[in-house]
Amino acid sequence: MERKGGRPLPIYDSPPAQVIAPTGGSNMASSKRKSDTLRLKALTLCAVVAAITLYASYVPLVSTSTRDRQSAQRLPLAAQDILRQCASRRAVPGPPADFRERERSDRFEPGTRPTLIKNATLWTGARNGSEIVYGDIFLDKGLVRGIGYIPEVLYADRETDVVDAHGGWVTPGIVDIHTHLGVISAPVTAGAFDFSSAHGPVVPWMRSIDGFNTHDDAIALAVAGGGQAFMVKLRKTSMRTPTSMLIEPPYTLNGSTPDPNLPARWRHLKYVVFYVLHPIFGTKIDHGWYRQACGESPRAYGNRMDTMWSFRSAYEEARKLRDAQDMFCARAEAGLWNEIQGQDYPEDLRWEALVDVLRGRVKVSTHCYEPVDLDGIVRLTQEFKFPIASFHHAHEAYLVPDVLKNTYGGIPTLALFADSSRFKREAYRGSKFAPRILADHGFPVAMKSDHPVLISRYLMFEAQQAHYHGLPPHLALAAVTSVPAAAAGLSHRIGILREGADADVVLWDSHPLQLGATPRKVWIDGILQVGNDTDHIVVGPGKTAAEWQDPPDVPDFTTEREADIKWDGLAPLTSNRTVAGRVAFQNVKEVFLRQSGDSAGLSHHQFDEAAMTHVIVDRGRVSCVGPVCEGEGRNAEVRIDLRGGTIAPGMIAYGSALGIEEIQAEPSTGDGTRYDPLASDVPKILGDVGAVVRVEDALIFQTRNALVAHRAGVTYATTSFVRSPVFLRDQFMGGLSATFRTGAPHALDRTAIIKPVTALHVSIGRAPPISFTPNAASLSTQIATLRHLLLDGEDTRTQTGDWFKKAAEGAIPLVVEVSSADIMATLIRLKSEVEEKRGTYMRMVFSRATEAHRIAEEIAHAKIGVILTPSRQFPWSWDDRRILAGPPLTNDTALAALIKHGVTVGLGTWEACHVPLTRFDVGWAILESNNWINKRQAYELVSTNLEKMLDLEGWIGDMGDLVAYEGGSALDFTSKPIAIVSPARQLVEIL
Ligand SMILES: *[C@@H]1O[C@H](CO)[C@@H](O)[C@H](O)[C@H]1NC(C)=O
Ligand SMILES: *[C@@H]1O[C@H](CO)[C@@H](O)[C@H](O)[C@H]1NC(C)=O
Repeated sequence: MERKGGRPLPIYDSPPAQVIAPTGGSNMASSKRKSDTLRLKALTLCAVVAAITLYASYVPLVSTSTRDRQSAQRLPLAAQDILRQCASRRAVPGPPADFRERERSDRFEPGTRPTLIKNATLWTGARNGSEIVYGDIFLDKGLVRGIGYIPEVLYADRETDVVDAHGGWVTPGIVDIHTHLGVISAPVTAGAFDFSSAHGPVVPWMRSIDGFNTHDDAIALAVAGGGQAFMVKLRKTSMRTPTSMLIEPPYTLNGSTPDPNLPARWRHLKYVVFYVLHPIFGTKIDHGWYRQACGESPRAYGNRMDTMWSFRSAYEEARKLRDAQDMFCARAEAGLWNEIQGQDYPEDLRWEALVDVLRGRVKVSTHCYEPVDLDGIVRLTQEFKFPIASFHHAHEAYLVPDVLKNTYGGIPTLALFADSSRFKREAYRGSKFAPRILADHGFPVAMKSDHPVLISRYLMFEAQQAHYHGLPPHLALAAVTSVPAAAAGLSHRIGILREGADADVVLWDSHPLQLGATPRKVWIDGILQVGNDTDHIVVGPGKTAAEWQDPPDVPDFTTEREADIKWDGLAPLTSNRTVAGRVAFQNVKEVFLRQSGDSAGLSHHQFDEAAMTHVIVDRGRVSCVGPVCEGEGRNAEVRIDLRGGTIAPGMIAYGSALGIEEIQAEPSTGDGTRYDPLASDVPKILGDVGAVVRVEDALIFQTRNALVAHRAGVTYATTSFVRSPVFLRDQFMGGLSATFRTGAPHALDRTAIIKPVTALHVSIGRAPPISFTPNAASLSTQIATLRHLLLDGEDTRTQTGDWFKKAAEGAIPLVVEVSSADIMATLIRLKSEVEEKRGTYMRMVFSRATEAHRIAEEIAHAKIGVILTPSRQFPWSWDDRRILAGPPLTNDTALAALIKHGVTVGLGTWEACHVPLTRFDVGWAILESNNWINKRQAYELVSTNLEKMLDLEGWIGDMGDLVAYEGGSALDFTSKPIAIVSPARQLVEIL
């Protein structure tokens, strides 16, 4: 897992039972650990090392020949076993030749009825993803048994479930090549957090199957996203065990003896990858799915040179072991038993997986970002002569394709995020166009979730973004199905629809590359997992128009793509040109404007005859909208054709560190560590026991994240100090947020800071599952502290006293980061207690607010606003566990439930690098709510509603920026922002 939080991770404080490091690396493991102060008491996996003892007993076999007594060979009793073992070294993994003729799947659950899906548009994955078959698909005995025309005789006399797809898209289930599902479980608890080892940068003996939690809530959610995770089929089996969820496990793992007549199976962990967590671990092996990390992740064990040495020394151990085996076998196979008398087949459980890597029998995946590391690993493959199945993350691979082409054994697959750049230094130069650039170079490109870094349920969104940024549709779909399946050596079974495969099958409500595409039905092993009609879940209303069944008509990004290559990923982000005079936008389809006046929302104008419609802007202000303005456009300084595009308000980012740090994982680019008054003493010189500090004092302008957000139509941000580390809780005091313009050059620019002190923030929740802060105050202590502060507890001459008094009086919004409905209920009671005792009215807002939907009515009644952060929910922690998952699992979403009860709702984002996706989050929210909200309401979620809750009304208002999108709607994949209209700056900025 690539952790994005800014804090160091917990480090085990108990010494590992046994530290096994490669030769020369034994001290690396402990050096950095000493410097980490955060500790975790947890059980660690012990590396139990044993030597395989074969047959030690040899008995002399006396030759019956009397003339050759001298050369009598002593044939060991186990000679047959030894010869078989030696022969198996040469076995090439792969399916048996007659695999496609099999009649039933090894995973078939007896009693499962056949299923016929009629009238489907079948994306099969064949022919590099370009094959589409219109017709039917027949599933029987856990297998795909027919595609296209299905003769009635196959199913007529049998009890068959028939589903009419009405021409809808059917694809294989999604294959996620990099996820921590089951080992970092949801909700996260200390008891099911089995992803880590403290045993060194190279631990090829570890098996993730030994930590797989079948109760992970994310499993059912992932199925609702369209399929199966890598190497585990995400169907709870009748046996209820992790082992029974594996697909095609090595014979030895499931207890069956290898059948000498069958080909070997790939030693890949048919299983979720269990893997490095920055910064503790360098390398893991999951039963043969060998993952090695380079670059920053293994630095807990030393620097980059140390990492490469630990790889080289480990491979050297493996090479020696392999050569010893080969020598032993050469003698056995030559019948020279005397020469190996008393010896066992050389074996070492620690290194046997790496020996298989050297024998080319393991799918190796490698986590690497930068040229220095990619180059180093490629050299390693040449030195030890082993192939690599896939490079993961690889944010800079697009800059060095020729290096990767030199990988021993052929070109690897690249498993990428659609973007997620800039969260760490190694990802800083990442490009949204990397999937397209690498595909142009002939690399197979896969998209992966790194769940829970991205939620694996939403893996298709990564493919959608890759497509938006230029990856052709057939390769975008292949990137989450056939390509990762092939990289895992499993394309005879999954990621592809063909006869004899046991691929999962998904019926979608639209083309899968459309934003918000949702599975109507999902089958695993022919068993319906999602979308039983008896559940009465409504999926995809309003998607009847034909265009929903095609991939979106995406903009052209050739210029931007070439710029990323030219500038090594750091293309300039400041605007090309500003226009102070008259600008005429032509061919505008939709316009959303902020209305003047208090508590006003947005107005929405839609024009049928887009070609005729003009929007005239004078000195950055809209002066005329509609077909009537054509005449006024004639004397414009600049005319811009929006080609049926949209003009909409600049959005507001809430909830990330946008504007107070450059790179999340690099503390030197941010504000630094804050004091936590509930965990440590504040220096007396501050004169303020609460240490209430201001974001205003820590703002950095022109970070790449802020400039990218600006160019993506998010022109404002309200940033507090509260971070939402995924399964944790931030410290109590979140300080005073500031609202600023994301495109501003510096704090002294006249229009840079919108409202220097916007709201007071606190974070309240149960103790985190993994104790990052060993002295974390209890929930009741936090509530008691808040009560004390709001009821006049501190001297108003201190910052803490002053700002909490203002919050109690409603002079500043109090934003509480909170997940659990029970805690929200306590806060509602506290609010009325304070208001009653002080005779005031508080402006309270809940952010994060995962479980708010459970008490929506009470929240509305208490006049509390809610900023759902992030917009799509996931059961991160115990406090977050009762989510509304939305279609196809529930009809309602949290957003829809809150709006139905009259709650004022906004949407937020955790990661600064995901802020540019805000408009897609908003568009998706409309679709997920089954069109229960309209576009105008959706824009309000990230503009005027946030302004209301954060008391920004009048601070932005009708001087607010507008963004012009060329091509189509701003809320889907058909447009891109090309200009920003800025009344406050009295100009139009051309992007
Ligand atoms: C398939 O479904 C589409 C859409 O409902 C329909 O127009 C078409 O007639 C159907 N074709 C067949 C062969 O049933
Ligand atoms: C749907 O669920 C009902 C009730 O549990 C069950 O009887 C039926 O077989 C299911 N249908 C399918 C197609 O699995």
